[in-house]
Amino acid sequence: MKCKITNKELKPFMSFGKMPIANGFLNKENFKDEFFFNMEVGFNEDISLFQLNDHPKPEKMFNAKYPFFSGSSEYMKKHFKNYSEYVKKFLNTNSKIIEIGSNDGTFLKNFINQSDKFIGFEPSKNVAELAIKNGVPTIINFFNKSSAKNLKEYVGKTDLICASNVICHVPDLNNLIEAVDILLSKNGTFVFEEPYLGAMLDKVSYDQIYDEHIYMFSASSISKIFKKYKFELVDVIPQSTHGGSMRYVIKREKNEVNNNVNKILNFEKEKKIDKIESCIEFKKNCEISRQKILGKLKSFKDEGKSICGYAATSKSTTILNYCNINSDYIDYICDTTKEKVGKYSPGMHIPIKDMNYFHNNLTNCVYLFAWNHKEEILNKEKNFKGEWFSHVEI
Ligand code: TYD
Repeated sequence: MKCKITNKELKPFMSFGKMPIANGFLNKENFKDEFFFNMEVGFNEDISLFQLNDHPKPEKMFNAKYPFFSGSSEYMKKHFKNYSEYVKKFLNTNSKIIEIGSNDGTFLKNFINQSDKFIGFEPSKNVAELAIKNGVPTIINFFNKSSAKNLKEYVGKTDLICASNVICHVPDLNNLIEAVDILLSKNGTFVFEEPYLGAMLDKVSYDQIYDEHIYMFSASSISKIFKKYKFELVDVIPQSTHGGSMRYVIKREKNEVNNNVNKILNFEKEKKIDKIESCIEFKKNCEISRQKILGKLKSFKDEGKSICGYAATSKSTTILNYCNINSDYIDYICDTTKEKVGKYSPGMHIPIKDMNYFHNNLTNCVYLFAWNHKEEILNKEKNFKGEWFSHVEI
């Protein structure tokens, strides 16, 4: 696939094989019609961008059945509160805060009672309706040039556009940045957070790669991409969320750039995060990781131990399908999301159970799929005396 911001062809360097929709939890009667795509990743050296070679259409993923709710983690709720405090310095009292991909309103809710001037864009109807019910005005649509133009008619330009874990979901970055350009005032700020390529390479957390995550950004890629549109990366702040993320602060060009930016850019050069070499190394590490986790599961089984999965994350879809781990190994996966419980995991069809089921059917070992929520989960499950494990260090 050619990225619209550059003419250079993407260089695919690895295939994870046949993958279903990561959040496509399904009923038995839908097994026969399940959608799969070949999940290949590549690196665009021109803009240092790690990305999927091809991906399903956004409407296949973000629709009225989207089962991901930002508010499902207490840790993330706290994080969004802190994030809302951070962005306040960019606010001008007269303009509305706009959030791209506002999900259930967990971030914007923090502005209720402080400012009535905020609005979210969220294409997944079910989560958007929950946000509206919670007092967060939400446009049920994708954020793009056309929806940005419509909003500008009503509210004018804004000083602050925010996003979290959503820019990497947008196939047409060209259209997205032009939409930001339409709505952002001359001195406005665009702040967004995304899982960080450097963290993924370091932890070999290849489960960050799935249909929704079309891109895995770094400071190098963000800086190069936004420069093409006369925007500047003016600050970068590492975050612990999602196993290692980065907050990017963007302004129109010729703004003062914080030292953090050069520090991170130099770090990425040193580690070759801006070059395909790091990806080739990553590919080898993914193969080693797969062998290791399969070895671990086999030895548990040889010892007669039972195993379940904890949290039916999107990430788990990549692991289970890439490593071909099915119910022969994992009895069930427990999760708090009512939209997932009672269904089966995408591709491998492992049953999803609620937390009561987990507490009444404890297994000897638990594969922690939400390893990024380790603290919160292990704290909640102190009474479980068996073994926790994952493919990344926990
Ligand atoms: P997350 O890592 O955000 O998922 P994803 O890989 O999809 O981005 O974890 C969210 C999922 O984990 C969601 O299905 C709810 C589940 N979960 C639990 O079941 N219990 C918990 O304590 C937490 C924090 C999450």
